[in-house]
Amino acid sequence: KKLHFVTLLGSLRKASYNGIVAHALPALAPEGVSISALGSIAEFPHYNQDVQDQAFPSFVLAMGQQISAADGVIIVTPEYNYSVPGVIKNALDWLSRLTPQPFARKPVAIQTVSPGMIGGARAQYHLRQSMVFMDALVLNKPEVMIGQAADKFDTDKLELTDQKTRAFLTRQIQALADLAWREQR
Ligand code: FNR
Repeated sequence: KKLHFVTLLGSLRKASYNGIVAHALPALAPEGVSISALGSIAEFPHYNQDVQDQAFPSFVLAMGQQISAADGVIIVTPEYNYSVPGVIKNALDWLSRLTPQPFARKPVAIQTVSPGMIGGARAQYHLRQSMVFMDALVLNKPEVMIGQAADKFDTDKLELTDQKTRAFLTRQIQALADLAWREQR
């Protein structure tokens, strides 16, 4: 059997570094793994429990089903103000209210990209904390924190050009696959 992972992207910017990485992942997947993108987090309405109590928006239900059906999720996100962007937190807040909760026992890998030196490390640890409440199985290592993005991307061609980073991404996806196989045993 093959494994299938889905990606959730935390930036809405057209030339987003994180978007370039998320887009590159299907081609970087190791043998036996396929990867596809979830819908845009822009499609999640602002979370409101009154709306949830009436009925979950159909987009939220659809995203929850795709996550439930996947063997793992790869979250690729920028760091905003030492945390995750509000837009992706909003999407996660919606998804966390579904029953069954799609992140429960779900293998999850986190990737962050930043022009700064430490590659979004602080956002990763905030995200990990939220995923604790969601009972997600967040991959511990390797941690993918891509810093100094300006040197590693061709923003005209929207390509991740740094070969070491590309190889490192494949290693993390392999580690997520190993975690997913262990959980399915
Ligand atoms: C940022 N940026 C940023 N970078 C970082 O490393 N740590 C941070 O705390 C922040 N904070 C922050 C807040 C806000 C509101 C913005 C708009 C930006 C810079 C950020 O890493 C940069 O804009 C990236 O290019 C965003 O990722 P995408 O959109 O290129 O994927």
